[in-house]
Amino acid sequence: MKTIQKMALGALFALGATQANAQAFPARPITMIVPFAAGGPTDVVARIVGDHMSRTLGQPVIIENVAGAGGTTGITRAAKATPDGYTIAMGHMGTHGASPGLYPNLAYDPQKDFEPIGLAAGTPILIVTRKDFPAKDLKEFSAYVKANENKINHADAGPGAVSNVTCILLHDMLKVNPVTVPYKGTGPLLNDLMSGKVDYACDQIVNLTPQIKAGTIKAIAVATEKRAPALPDVPTTTEGGLPGYKVSAWNAAFAPKGTPPEALAKLREALVKAVTDPGTKAKLEELGGEVPDAKGASPEALAALVKSENERWVPLLKAKGNK
Ligand code: MLT
Repeated sequence: MKTIQKMALGALFALGATQANAQAFPARPITMIVPFAAGGPTDVVARIVGDHMSRTLGQPVIIENVAGAGGTTGITRAAKATPDGYTIAMGHMGTHGASPGLYPNLAYDPQKDFEPIGLAAGTPILIVTRKDFPAKDLKEFSAYVKANENKINHADAGPGAVSNVTCILLHDMLKVNPVTVPYKGTGPLLNDLMSGKVDYACDQIVNLTPQIKAGTIKAIAVATEKRAPALPDVPTTTEGGLPGYKVSAWNAAFAPKGTPPEALAKLREALVKAVTDPGTKAKLEELGGEVPDAKGASPEALAALVKSENERWVPLLKAKGNK
């Protein structure tokens, strides 16, 4: 065979292999990095959504918890992963919205280093305390925290985590600076809140609803305009006399930049199918999650959300850091 014929045949094989690979996606399990400890809000959302995605994709979506540095360790790993569709991440308002405001040398750019897959759930923020915390409402909570600033323990999931940046806002409003106990996620934090080792936290509703209902922790207020349907007895921060404290988080799936369009299309389709599936939606809503429709779960909507959250959080956190 002449050299030119060999080259043509080689190119044909390479093209065939590329097309077969693209068509075959996914040919093996997909890893979804959760940048916090197991059992917390991001893990819960990832497992519910990932379970349905695996049924659409015909391959398991395996959750890998890579905790540390307020979620930025796991998201850095996802950003640097081979962009083949087999490694994705469940990021959130902290990792993709707020962290660039706290980490001057963050190893990823939320807007440039990822391909948005889609929003999985909105997660309203609640102020929660150990069950015997001496405050029955937001007014008493605020007064107690101000009076006992040096004695109480606030807890969060590290700088840049949702629990961290949302309580930074709260502390700023109350003009307090209590000791903070850091955790690898609000899953383990919740265990210590239940046992009374720490006093309070600002956390995402999907981590809290069962424990609030069971009375093992106390809900002080939900930081949204209206009460959460999953917790209709919990007053809003407006009802509690702190209308300026309004904050809600979200969890969303991202792939590393450069992931092939064919793989992205399948991942995006699987995510939309998951969140619009009545069973998955019910599971998330029972926990208080705000589940997007197909348009809300689109990559365009997620790209716009990340941009607007960067615009909200980054200047705010940088200004606080410079004080
Ligand atoms: C978690 O899954 O532990 C949380 O999303 C942590 C946080 O951001 O507060």
